[in-house]
Amino acid sequence: MTQDTGRKLVLPSYRRDDVDVHPPLLSPGYGSTVTRAPRQPLVYLPQRLTEVTGPLLGEGRLGDLDHDLTRQHDGEPQGQRIIVHGRVLDGDGHAVPHTLVEIWQANAAGRYRHAADTWPAPLDPNFTGVGRALTDGQGRYHFVTVQPGAYPWRNHDNAWRPAHIHFSLFGRAFTQRLVTQMYFPGDPLFSQDPIFNSVRDPQARQRMVARYDHTATRPEWALAYEFDIVLRGRDATVFEDEDDDE
Ligand SMILES: [Fe+2]
Repeated sequence: MTQDTGRKLVLPSYRRDDVDVHPPLLSPGYGSTVTRAPRQPLVYLPQRLTEVTGPLLGEGRLGDLDHDLTRQHDGEPQGQRIIVHGRVLDGDGHAVPHTLVEIWQANAAGRYRHAADTWPAPLDPNFTGVGRALTDGQGRYHFVTVQPGAYPWRNHDNAWRPAHIHFSLFGRAFTQRLVTQMYFPGDPLFSQDPIFNSVRDPQARQRMVARYDHTATRPEWALAYEFDIVLRGRDATVFEDEDDDE
């Protein structure tokens, strides 16, 4: 939220500062970017009071089970139960508290509950694949879900997406929304995935891969993965065009 200190209203900036880290809007290997990427230079519109003081999704709108994708239906979903947790940090390493983190993902068989996803993998009546959480005072978030499956996507011959979870962060204003994907360590599908590889910096690519966390893994219950999200600066998580749905 914008702070009015009584002296000067400070409006947040949304200009990307790491143009070599984030994936380019045009990545020819990722077919749909060819038709949707802008052909003219971007024009950055100034943020004014209206853009930064619009409605925010607050704590009161979160359901008790929004963070637990395994308890949103009558039964448990199929698949490997996992914990996904981490911190949201700003470019100086400071926690970003009370910010909305949303995730969406395919089920254990690699299928989304979405009209456009019709490949012959089973839907799971006990899995919607959508979760929301607010970071706590230390910037921590926590989800319980199932390991998503890989899925085919027709971008190129025999194309399969590595298992991934989509993340959205709203920050302190609606216009600050950022979107990224979290991958799992050691996935054999990385080498043929043009979305993962549209991030040209190998170190930046690794910042999209979660860390297996044996300390947070709970005995006889769930594996855990840690995924910290850094909003800006040298260690920034890679963020993508919001229209990327794959
Ligand atoms: Fe996806």
